[in-house]
Amino acid sequence: MSNGKAQGGSAEKSQPIGVFDSGIGGLTVVSALRTLLPNESIYYLGDTARLPYGGKSASTVQRYSLEIAAMLLEENAKTVVVACNTASAVALSQLIESVPVPVTGVILPGARAAIAATRSGQVGVIGTRATINSGAYERALRSLDSEIRVTARACPLLVPLIEEGWLERPITDQIIMQYVGPLVDEGIDTLVLGCTHYPLLRKAIARLLGDTITLVDSAQNCASAVRDLLIRENLRAPEANTGSLQVALTDPPDSFLRVAREALQLDVGEVQLRQVTPHTHL
Ligand code: DGL
Repeated sequence: MSNGKAQGGSAEKSQPIGVFDSGIGGLTVVSALRTLLPNESIYYLGDTARLPYGGKSASTVQRYSLEIAAMLLEENAKTVVVACNTASAVALSQLIESVPVPVTGVILPGARAAIAATRSGQVGVIGTRATINSGAYERALRSLDSEIRVTARACPLLVPLIEEGWLERPITDQIIMQYVGPLVDEGIDTLVLGCTHYPLLRKAIARLLGDTITLVDSAQNCASAVRDLLIRENLRAPEANTGSLQVALTDPPDSFLRVAREALQLDVGEVQLRQVTPHTHL
């Protein structure tokens, strides 16, 4: 989850937390971070020019992740949060090796929360194709409980629906049920929303599944892991600091701002446009 490379000087404490995702999904993590850590400055980079990551090969997502992490370091990020399950699934170890500040991914925090939530030991995971094909959730869940039974399902149509802001529509409900129905039939009692976009569909999924299935939100659990890391590494911003959020994208925003404002009640302010510097070596 994190590599524990400590800094901890007083200037570093006021540096931003660097957060990235392919698009708006990681803003669910930002929203949780803003609530949990109101004194922190956050620099968010959404790689909208290359969205989605979920259908791409592991080596491409690794390259993208290293390039985006390099851009966050240019912003003096004191820690990097991989607010993307796909990048966490296929690129976390490269990031931990190459990035000189602590790195937190979303998968282990989500797996821990699922183990804590399940009563029957039958857990469902939904995510992008790359995340599900990587087997990262199964590995994380089994490393915590070797008896756990996991059913995982890729849901490639959900990210485009979310980016489009189609959060409460009959067609979205139908697609959710196509994907999640078989997991319900398997008897899961806990469902991991293994893509940071999916908490935006939490209301719809909860309505469709009823209250016998616990939803585990990787965004919320990642934010708690970041708070623990900052405390452990003595990197928390001073209480007197006023937290802030700077959002940057690699392609101009389209429905991005509307979805962020309406669904997450997040004031993203003025969005910076950044060009990726390809082949950046960390
Ligand atoms: N939000 C991302 C995730 O958690 C990626 C979605 C995508 O770009 O496909 O996997």
